[in-house]
Amino acid sequence: MAEPGGSGPIGPYPPGIETDEQHDEYDRLRRRVLWKMPYGLYVLGSTDRAARRNAMTLNWVTQVSFDPKWIGVGIEQTALTHELIEAGGCFSLCLIDQEDRAIVRKFSKPVDVDLAAKTLNGFPYLEKVTGAPILSQAVAYIDCELRERLTAGNHTFFVGEVVDIGFFKDEDTPVLRMEDTRMNYGG
Ligand SMILES: Cc1cc2nc3c(=O)[nH]c(=O)nc-3n(C[C@H](O)[C@H](O)[C@H](O)COP(=O)(O)O)c2cc1C
Repeated sequence: MAEPGGSGPIGPYPPGIETDEQHDEYDRLRRRVLWKMPYGLYVLGSTDRAARRNAMTLNWVTQVSFDPKWIGVGIEQTALTHELIEAGGCFSLCLIDQEDRAIVRKFSKPVDVDLAAKTLNGFPYLEKVTGAPILSQAVAYIDCELRERLTAGNHTFFVGEVVDIGFFKDEDTPVLRMEDTRMNYGG
């Protein structure tokens, strides 16, 4: 069975998984297990630190060091965001209010940027230390300077240092997680 992206099942396979049918079945099983991994759901802001701004939905996010305070994000190499993180050397993360789950779909396709009005898809944004856009309706934001990058297959794992952070909403506001939606990524 073909993948949504067009490629067939992806190996390697464990011993005994040899026929095309077994490869298909294993591929589906592996996806179901990988989709079971718990994730948060965020909007990541990027800029070339000149005239370009972007924001995208992502779930591959984790803190990776506490001294220094480093956060890692997995970004597909074909994404505009990838180009802007490379160009600007920074990114921002927005923690999203559970009530704002509709935002997720709006930032998983190309974004309409209005620099004069300071909006992304009509959502007002502001800029803090790095200049990467931060949605003003975020529960909290994390502003990062790029420190490391690791090529990770068809993604790049960018690691940024937290240079500014804050809450825009009450600290007790529930934030969005993958399980609050019917969506998946990767697998
Ligand atoms: C629920 C969900 C989670 C996603 N997680 C990621 C992710 O972790 N990394 C990634 O590169 N893309 C992820 N995407 C896909 C991007 O949001 C999508 O490709 C986006 O259009 C990229 O935008 P850009 O090309 O403007 O940068 C996710 C999409 C959805 C719907």
